[in-house]
Amino acid sequence: MTEDPVFPCSFVIFGATGNLASKKLIPSLCRLEEAGRLPDGMQFIAIGRREWDDETWKGHVRALLREKFQAQFDEAVCERFVARFTYLRGELHDIALYRQLGAEIAKPRIGMNSNVVFYLSIKPTDFQSVIKNLDKSGLSQPRGLHRVVVEKPFGEDIETAQSLNRLLHDHFDEQQIFRIDHYLGKDTVQNLMVFRFANTLIEPLWNRNFIDHIQITAAETMGIENRADYYDKAGALRDMLQNHLMQLLTVVAMEPPPVMDADALRDEKVKVLRSIRPIPKRSVHAHAIRAQYAAGSIDGVNVPAYQDEPGVEAQSATETFVAAKFYIDNWRWRGVPFYLRTGKRMAESRSMVAIRLRPPPQQLFRFTPVEEISPNWIILSIQPEESMRMEVHVKQPGLEMKTRVISLNASYRQQDEIPLDAYETLLLDIVHGDRTLFIRFDEVEWAWRVVDPILKSWASDRDFIHTYPAGSWGLSESSRLFDAEDQTWRNTL
Ligand code: BG6
Repeated sequence: MTEDPVFPCSFVIFGATGNLASKKLIPSLCRLEEAGRLPDGMQFIAIGRREWDDETWKGHVRALLREKFQAQFDEAVCERFVARFTYLRGELHDIALYRQLGAEIAKPRIGMNSNVVFYLSIKPTDFQSVIKNLDKSGLSQPRGLHRVVVEKPFGEDIETAQSLNRLLHDHFDEQQIFRIDHYLGKDTVQNLMVFRFANTLIEPLWNRNFIDHIQITAAETMGIENRADYYDKAGALRDMLQNHLMQLLTVVAMEPPPVMDADALRDEKVKVLRSIRPIPKRSVHAHAIRAQYAAGSIDGVNVPAYQDEPGVEAQSATETFVAAKFYIDNWRWRGVPFYLRTGKRMAESRSMVAIRLRPPPQQLFRFTPVEEISPNWIILSIQPEESMRMEVHVKQPGLEMKTRVISLNASYRQQDEIPLDAYETLLLDIVHGDRTLFIRFDEVEWAWRVVDPILKSWASDRDFIHTYPAGSWGLSESSRLFDAEDQTWRNTL
């Protein structure tokens, strides 16, 4: 986050009554209000399809903030925040909505300048009509001034991503476009870079000579909530792996950039994506596996099967779990498998990067033959714990030479430090115009290229999908991806 002066702007939220706005955008913006980071005169325009007026909208915001913040809910902050809002009701394809929006933006306000942020928190299928209508109504003008924020998934495959990008570039310059992957806004993900590049202790180990394999997991106990409309067409590969998990992979695997600026960083990430060995169509089965949750129980509560969730098509073959294996063919990583997995309705909500090191080359300790020594792990936990953990062997106190594993565990947040939501960081960056944590199109494009063979192969095979019980760690058969018998999924810290 930069500390440059921030000019007030109009911040327009398309899809304001949707899931993302309610869960993330509105609470995060309110936290920025509380922290005094929103400039005076900044206004929000919420756009939704519900037949609401300003007062109903404000009541909705108050209720969701109260529920979100519970004991920390601050009435005065909330009132300051809701006072910034205007609600506009309309259909995204209807030009009348944009005329109304133009009139709202043009109203004179104290401290206003003409800068507008258009936040597209909408279904990918609606992007085109919003961008075209912004243009038709003159709201994208003057070119170069406003900012447009595009949520993931950016397209649904490489072709649609390219055409969405062309459409954006027809009306906006690259500096105006903010492609969000909210994982990059997480402190723990940014910490991955600091962990690697600010510690000489780590970097010498970070390569094929010392690392056996790397696992990247993003597991959620949550189901698809009320998002069937979007999710049933997307699936876990598009929803999580192509973007969040691929971004984690690039941050874990990239070379140190020459400087820490937006483009240098993104150049390094693209190099990683370009070095991922393409998966031939005939090998998709050996590299990727998908499954869907069946009914089960999570924390003692019974939950329905994916196919019984409201809005999901009968007989849907959409995956809610995916595991995949990739190789990065460069000097640093050649031969080291990267195993990625993500799923909904899993046993626990946990995101982490688990790095298993190679065993020592020589057996030195009597009674503890090297074969029995468990490998060293470095675990970088992204959520819910925010920690770094290293497992090392030590001698067991006593007369015999026996070893045991202890873990060096560092929780990287101090007790009085309040966790930030990724969206707080990213929303403030948008207002400041700082694009470091946003995605450049070539990253999106290469990430689609990596998953494209899997997408295509799965699209042509929609008759059957494996299931896993909700509340488990996904499909146990996913362990067939491992290259060696002693490799297994790491589920715990
Ligand atoms: C979103 C996905 O991008 O990320 C959701 O669309 C998912 O399906 C969410 O639940 C996970 O984010 P987080 O920050 O809770 O790990």
